[in-house]
Amino acid sequence: MTQVLIPAAINQYAESFTSDELKALAALNRETHLKVEMPQMLSGKLQGQLLQMISHMIRPRRILEIGTYTGYSAICLATGLAEDGLLHTIDINEELQEMCFRYFCEAGLEKKIIQHIGKAADVISGLDEEFDLVFIDADKQNYSLYYDMVFDKVKVGGFILADNVLFDGEVVLPESQQGKNAKAMHSYNEKIKKDSRIEHVLLPVRDGIMIASKKSK
Ligand SMILES: C[S@@+](CC[C@H](N)C(=O)[O-])C[C@H]1O[C@@H](n2cnc3c(N)ncnc32)[C@H](O)[C@@H]1O
Repeated sequence: MTQVLIPAAINQYAESFTSDELKALAALNRETHLKVEMPQMLSGKLQGQLLQMISHMIRPRRILEIGTYTGYSAICLATGLAEDGLLHTIDINEELQEMCFRYFCEAGLEKKIIQHIGKAADVISGLDEEFDLVFIDADKQNYSLYYDMVFDKVKVGGFILADNVLFDGEVVLPESQQGKNAKAMHSYNEKIKKDSRIEHVLLPVRDGIMIASKKSK
């Protein structure tokens, strides 16, 4: 992913001038690359440290993550939680649940992270929480649905982050050359642009992160 948007040498340079990952994150990153399919889905050091820093700046009480995978971004985000904070994370794949929990324990965050297994849309509708921060990082076709579903559950002043919004740079190609996921990401970006209830910035970090801040209901 990063090869397309950011030259490898620049990415390496940026990583080398970014704080080291927590020990648990470095081990999780390694085990994911050794043993788990599609390791490129993991946020990785640069994006992970960015998520961690954003979370530390906000000090959220409640975080919702849609798309746990092996738990890398969940740990990054959970490190910034307020003392009584909780992070809910959702994934449809139960096979990785145990591995995630092992690393949540290694990071000392097992009491702060609640894992939900199931289709995100089903789980979100059953969550009775008010979130300070939401991170959307699951099936691309449903980003707009997840945005609509979480919007009323996000506090005014809260944030909705979405990963992969540049989709390997495919979003800038003519529509006829875009795959269905790139089209979905482009339509998510259009939706965000048109929503006057938020302020937003699209950061061309890794595969593109859209940060939206809720200004009004
Ligand atoms: C890109 S990965 C998440 C990466 C993770 N946030 C990180 O940075 O380490 C996307 C995850 O979304 C999950 N997923 C896909 N469709 C889903 C759905 N409908 N409901 C819940 N999870 C889903 C996949 O199983 C996969 O683990």
